[in-house]
Formats: sequence, C-alpha cells, structure tokens
Amino acid sequence: MKRAPGMLTLLVLALFVLQATTGCGGPAEPPAPPAADAGDSEPAPPAAPEAVSLAVGEPVEASPPMAEINADGKLVWRPDLWKSPPRGLPPVPDPAYNGISVEKVELGRLLYFDKRLSKDGTVSCASCHHPATGFSNAQRFAAGIGGQLGGRNSPTVYNAAYQNETFWDGRAKSLEEQAMGPIENPIEMGQPLHEMIATVNAIPDYKPLFVKAFDNRKINENWVVQAIAAFERTILTGDAPFDRFRAGDNNALSEGAQRGLAVFEGKGRCLLCHMAPLFTDNVFHNLGVASEGDKADAGRMDVTKNEKDWGKFKTPTLRNVSVTGPYMHDGSETTLESIVELYDKGGVANKNLDPLMQPLGLTPEEKADLVTFMKEGLTREIEILIPPSAEAASN
Ligand code: HEC
Ligand code: HEC
Repeated sequence: MKRAPGMLTLLVLALFVLQATTGCGGPAEPPAPPAADAGDSEPAPPAAPEAVSLAVGEPVEASPPMAEINADGKLVWRPDLWKSPPRGLPPVPDPAYNGISVEKVELGRLLYFDKRLSKDGTVSCASCHHPATGFSNAQRFAAGIGGQLGGRNSPTVYNAAYQNETFWDGRAKSLEEQAMGPIENPIEMGQPLHEMIATVNAIPDYKPLFVKAFDNRKINENWVVQAIAAFERTILTGDAPFDRFRAGDNNALSEGAQRGLAVFEGKGRCLLCHMAPLFTDNVFHNLGVASEGDKADAGRMDVTKNEKDWGKFKTPTLRNVSVTGPYMHDGSETTLESIVELYDKGGVANKNLDPLMQPLGLTPEEKADLVTFMKEGLTREIEILIPPSAEAASN
C-alpha cells in the first residue's frame, strides 16, 4: 500500500528521463514536446542530457545569486563568473584537466584579444568572435590573416562552456582542443604553435601571468589554450527575460513574446532541438541548409565517416541569437524571419533530412510571435572590458 505511490512516481520519472534523453535522437515519430518545465514556476533545470558526460564544478543552488546587470541591461563580466552562472544556467563544467581559476581566466582574456598570437599580428580570437557582435562575427565568412575566408560562419562563443563537442561538425572534443585549431589554421591565425609560443615568450608582461596561472615558468601551447578555454568558460549568457519569466516574473516577457514561447514549445516544435536551458541539444541534425549542389558541406559526416551523418550540423544555441547573425553553418540566413519561413516549410528536402523536420502550418501572427520571443526573450549580452592588448599589435 505504502509503496505503490513511490513506485509510480519512479516509473513516471524513469519514463520522463527516457523520453527526455531520446527526444532528439531522431525517432521517426517524436513524442509530443516534452514540455517538462512548461507549467512549473520552478526554474528547475530540466533533464539536460548534454551535461552528463562532463565533469562539473561545485553545485550551485537552484537560484544562484543574481549576476549584476548594468544600465545597458548587460550582465557584468567577472573573472569568477563561472562560480555562480547567471540564472537559468546549469553549473559550468570545470574539467579536472584544466581546473578554472581567476588567474587563468584573466590571462585567457588577454590572450583571447591579443592579435600578436597570429602570424602577421592582425587577427585575434576576437576578430571572429567579438563581444560587440555577440562573440561571433557579423560577416558571412570571417576573414583570417591576409583577408582569407573559410567556408563556415563563426558560431558564438556564448555558453560554449557547455558543449561536449565544438565546431559545427563537432570535430573538437573540448574548448582546449578547439583553441589549437584557429591558431594554426593557415587561413585563420596562421601561426605554427612553436612560433606562437616564441612570440608570447617575447612579450615580457605575459611571463608573470603564466607563473601565477600555472605555477610554471615554461610557457607552452597547452597553457595558452588552457587559459583561453578558462576565459571562455566565463563567456556566459543567462538571466534573460525568458529565465525571469520561468522563475515566476510574469512581466518579464511581453504578451507577444509569451505567445511566441507557446509556439516555440508547441506547434513550432522548436524545443525538440533547442530546449532550455541551453537552447541546444548539442547534437547534429540535417535541416537541408545548403544541401543542394555538389559543393554541399558534408558536415558531421566528415568526422564520423558515416553516411547517415551527411549534411548534419550541431544545433546552435539560440541565446543571444538576436545579435549573432548571420546564421546557419554557412551564414546563408540573415534574418530570424527567413529562418522561421524555412522551418514552416519543414526545411529543405534532401537525401538525409531530419525526420523531426515537418511542415508547421504557422499563421503570420505565430511566425511574428516566434521571432519576438527569440529576440526579446533570449537576449542578455555580457559587458566585458577589452584589454589594451587588443590594439597592441595591429594598426
Ligand atoms: C578567422 C576567423 C576565426 C578566428 C581568428 C577564430 N575563430 Fe573560432 N571559429 C571560426 C569559425 C568559422 C568557426 C566554425 C568552424 C567550423 O565549425 O568548422 C569557429 C569555431 C569556434 C568555436 C566553436 C563554437 C561552437 O559552437 O562549436 C569556438 C569555441 C571558437 N571558434 C573559439 C575561438 C578561439 C578561442 C579563437 C582564438 C584562439 C578563435 N576561435 C579564432 C572563426 C574564427
Ligand atoms: C531537428 C532539430 C531542430 C529543430 C526542430 C529546430 N532547429 Fe533550429 N537549428 C537546428 C540546427 C541543426 C541548426 C543549424 C543548421 C545548419 O547550420 O545547417 C539550427 C539553426 C537555427 C537558427 C540559426 C542560429 C544560428 O546561430 O545560426 C535559428 C534562429 C533556429 N534554428 C531557430 C529555430 C526555431 C525558431 C525552431 C522552431 C520553429 C527551430 N529552430 C527548430 C536544429 C533544429
């Protein structure tokens, strides 16, 4: 008698977890949106399958102390922001191989903005992931050294801390591994790692900072990317109007944005892949973007060599999406309105279209509300002090 309700709860819970973790794996018949937290006023972090394989830092309370918001409505950056991430976000992964510290974050901030890390002193990480453009770049394809263009759009660094695999195709397994890429990439920063280290070694100001951050005199490429990655783990966005609304502040979203949220979670089926709190499932899908022609980007298949991954790209976060355009892996979309039209059609038919993509039949009002929700509900930029090193080498 006494045990029955407990068992039932467990069963329901198990079912929910099962559903939540398989929700975007691509079953042909997706269940109704797992609107786990839809009715709750609790900002209970819904099952976040993307977080399970990561080592996480100290647990934070459900409602961490509010990060400071300045007069422009931006979060105020702090070098210890990872300790109490803005409302709505899960604990920031703090990997054992590169424990975060204020010293590493501060050093990483300098390196991130320092153009001297590139071969000709003209390009830094911020050139393609700048705070003024949502830690992305307003160009379709960002230019590296000598103005060379790559074939993919710069994704935002906001909340990259939570990603298991980075790049549109997930080819890097950590932020540390990721950061090695652009430094060496001949069309991005174009600097062989040993030359980059020689450059950093020749800048006297860096030496004491490396000693403080790593207790090690010998600067090497691992310390450089570890510091940059630690800094990236403080480029967070949360406590957006959506988070406040979910935490019980009914005035946080306009009526249009509230209607848009309902479309997002219901008829629009957006949450099947862009679920809270991160607004990404951190896995790969084929929407058919740029799937035509023989120049089509194979995406995830380049990494797995598996035909069933052809044309799949990682779901990007939608937090701060109002400022991170242009959009999609190839930067081919410039407005949220046109993206909603793409989804309304059910994506672009191709040999590997994700079964979750279906025509939606949205009304013009529903489309407009959806855009209002994304722009108004998910925007919370961060205010960060750009170090003088950002200007040091070029101009
Ligand atoms: C020339 C422009 C350029 C420069 C310089 C650059 N990036 Fe990127 N970054 C990109 C592009 C383009 C991608 C996506 C490439 C892909 O997916 O194949 C990317 C991807 C990333 C990602 C993955 C984000 C995600 O959602 O998967 C991170 C993190 C990142 N860059 C950080 C950095 C850091 C740190 C530096 C400096 C060491 C840097 N970038 C330098 C253009 C640039
Ligand atoms: C099947 C999973 C899936 C569903 C459902 C889905 N998305 Fe996406 N979304 C993605 C993927 C994957 C991309 C990147 C695709 C690419 O670049 O080829 C993306 C990209 C986007 C972008 C561009 C973001 C950027 O930074 O480039 C926006 C905006 C967006 N989706 C909004 C929505 C909205 C609104 C809905 C609901 C109408 C929705 N998505 C439904 C997976 C999905």
